[in-house]
Amino acid sequence: EKGGFDSFMAKEIADQPQAVADTLLGRSDEDGRLILDELRVDEAALREIDKIVVVACGTAAYAGMVAKYAIEHWCRIPCEVELAHEFRYRDPVVNARTLVVAISQSGETMDTIMAVRHAREQGARVIAICNTHGSTIPRESDAALYTHAGPEIAVASTKAFLAQITACYLLGLYLAQLRGNKSPGEVTDILGQLHAMPDKIAKTLEGLDQVRRMARWMADTRSVLFLGRHVGFPVAMEGALKLKELAYIHAEGFAAGELKHGPIALIEPGQPVFVVVPSPTSPLHPKVVSNIQEINARGARTIVIAEEGDEDVVPYAQEVVRVPQTPALLAPLVTVVPLQVFACELAGAKGLDVDQPRNLAKSVTVE
Ligand code: F6R
Repeated sequence: EKGGFDSFMAKEIADQPQAVADTLLGRSDEDGRLILDELRVDEAALREIDKIVVVACGTAAYAGMVAKYAIEHWCRIPCEVELAHEFRYRDPVVNARTLVVAISQSGETMDTIMAVRHAREQGARVIAICNTHGSTIPRESDAALYTHAGPEIAVASTKAFLAQITACYLLGLYLAQLRGNKSPGEVTDILGQLHAMPDKIAKTLEGLDQVRRMARWMADTRSVLFLGRHVGFPVAMEGALKLKELAYIHAEGFAAGELKHGPIALIEPGQPVFVVVPSPTSPLHPKVVSNIQEINARGARTIVIAEEGDEDVVPYAQEVVRVPQTPALLAPLVTVVPLQVFACELAGAKGLDVDQPRNLAKSVTVE
C-alpha cells in the first residue's frame, strides 16, 4: 500500500496536493462561495465570540499557530494558541464568549481531549478540526470541521498538517464572513487562492531532488537550526520537530527576529541553518535577508527556502530551494514541504525506520 514509495511517510508527503484539494472539496458552491454547513454552531453565538483559543499538541499546534496569523488578520478576533497540556492546568480565562478550536489528526490525543472537556466546563464553544470521523475530540465538541487527508499511517504527521492548516483557513474565512469583516466576494477571492495551492504543492514536490541530495550529504550532522518569521515561524518549528522525530538530530526552530536576542551565539562555521524566507512582497523580506547575511557572515551553511524569482537571497545562501509564489498567509502549505522531505530523506540515509521512529506512538492516548 506504499504505492511504490520507500515509506508511508514518503507516500503521505506525495499525497499532500490531494489532501489539501480534498479538504477544500465541497466547501464552496459553483460561484465560489464558502459553504461550511457542518459547522452547526449557533451563528448568533459565533458573532458574540470575543476570543479564540486554539488547543493542540505537536504538529497540530503548529497548524494552530499558522491559523492564528490568518484568523487575526481576517477576522480581527484575538486568537491565541496553546499547547493543550499547558492550557488545561493553568486556570485559563475561558467563558461562553470564547471559541476553542481543538486541532487533532487522531481525535484521540488525551491532552487535547482534557483541554476540550475543561473548555466546555467553562461554557466555551468548541469546534474540532480533526482527521478521524467519530473519534473522541469531534464527538465531545460542539461541531467538527473534518480534514480529508485520508488515513495517516506514518507516525510523523505530514499530510494531516497541511489539511489542518487548510481547514483553519476555511474556519477563519467563515468567521470573517459571518462577522462582516470580509465580504462574500473577498472570501471567494481567497478561496480561489486556496484552490490554487494543490498545484503549487505538487510543483514544490517536483523540485526537491536538491533537498534529497543535501539530506544524504548531511547524514552526519549533529545539529540543525531553522529560522522563520510570521507564518514561517511555525514552519521552522515544524521542520525542526520532523528532524528530531525522524532522524534523532538536535534541531531547533526560532523566530528569525529572535536571532540577535540569543540564538545567533550558536552560529559557528559549518552550522547548517534552514531559513524560511517570506515573499519579496512582504515587508519582512528584507529583515529576513539581513538575518541570512548575518549568519552567512559567521560561516553558517545557509539553506534558504525562497520564492521563485527571489534573487536577493542568492548571494548569501549556500543552497536555495525554490517554492512557487504564494499569498503570504498561505505560504506554509508550500514552504514546509522541503523540510518534511529533508527529514524523511535524512532519516532514510541514516538507515532509520522513517514510519516508526523510536519512542513515539501515532496517537498519544495517555496524559
Ligand atoms: C508530529 C506528530 C505529533 C502529533 C501530536 C498531536 O509529527 O505526529 O506531534 O502532531 O501528537 O497528534 P494529534 O493531531 O493526533 O492530536
